[in-house]
Amino acid sequence: MNNYILAVETSCDETAVAIVKNGTELVANAVSSQIDSHKRFGGVVPELASRHHVENITVVMEEAFQTAGITMDDITAVAVTEGPGLVGALLVGVNAAKALAFAHDKPLIGVHHIAGHIYANRLMNEFEFPLLSLVVSGGHTELILMKEHGKFEIIGETRDDAAGEAYDKIARTLNLPYPGGPKVDELAQKGNISIDFPRAWLEEESFDFSFSGLKSAVINTVHNAKQKGIEIKNEDVAASFQASVVEVLTEKTWRAAKKYQVKQVIIAGGVAANKGLRKGMEEKFRNENMDVFFPPLSLCTDNAAMIAAAGYIAYEQGHRADWALNANPSLDL
Ligand code: KG4
Ligand code: ZN
Repeated sequence: MNNYILAVETSCDETAVAIVKNGTELVANAVSSQIDSHKRFGGVVPELASRHHVENITVVMEEAFQTAGITMDDITAVAVTEGPGLVGALLVGVNAAKALAFAHDKPLIGVHHIAGHIYANRLMNEFEFPLLSLVVSGGHTELILMKEHGKFEIIGETRDDAAGEAYDKIARTLNLPYPGGPKVDELAQKGNISIDFPRAWLEEESFDFSFSGLKSAVINTVHNAKQKGIEIKNEDVAASFQASVVEVLTEKTWRAAKKYQVKQVIIAGGVAANKGLRKGMEEKFRNENMDVFFPPLSLCTDNAAMIAAAGYIAYEQGHRADWALNANPSLDL
């Protein structure tokens, strides 16, 4: 019999519902982005995000069922992002999923948002353990070692800004609209790496990251140039900033992959869409006996397909949430 996981994701500014068949076959992936609403504020406004989720959730849900051509009767279990994220935003998804599961007498499964980002890759390739995942998003920068399904060991993380957050702040400095990551990436393709920005390697053995020093260096360079009337091209700033981020991310991932002798390296999260990072990783791992996987662009940023993929494994492992499931904005992996 087929297993259909219905998943709901509302942790930030995307209202998303997806249906995945037998753990790996994506049959519906509906996403309603709120970017246009938040753009004029230069970032996500939490209260606005919650309101939009309330307005959109049933529409997105209907769209997913229509695309899949199935009904709630066919659904095996309902999975939902329980955290981390914006609490008001998460609550909309958690309550929608709970109501649906309760009304149709289906099991409910709580999923960690980062587990979702990692499992987006399983919709493309089967996992082989040990596996190393670099999760780079707006809220997270983590190196995660997995020796089996559903078990996550954080071996490195950011000590300050997340990689995506740094991208968004640099974008603001360069007067680019929110969300700035993709725009900085685009500019970087056209520029030269002409400015030597710092790389934060931290302690020799550390797999932790830090982007605040780099961020300040970029902001200071741009402001100083403006004050002194020196012309520097935004393209070159973007290219030089990206070179620094990509070098640290690829080098630390490569060192960790070697140390833990992993079979696969998986890049996940919004910044996995970055062209420079994709190229840098491919070059770094080209001559290694390790596979490096990136999700397709549509599965890098927030979506519910990834929550369904992670929810399937949790379901198979027997995890069930009860009706007291709550949104947890700072849920541990
Ligand atoms: O995973 P995601 O959709 O949401 C979080 O869980 O945070 O990631 C969003 C982040 C934003 O900071 C966005 O600017 C960044 O991913 N991002 C990128 C690119 N596409 C999205 N950063 C750099 N280059 C990109 N191409
Ligand atoms: Zn995310």
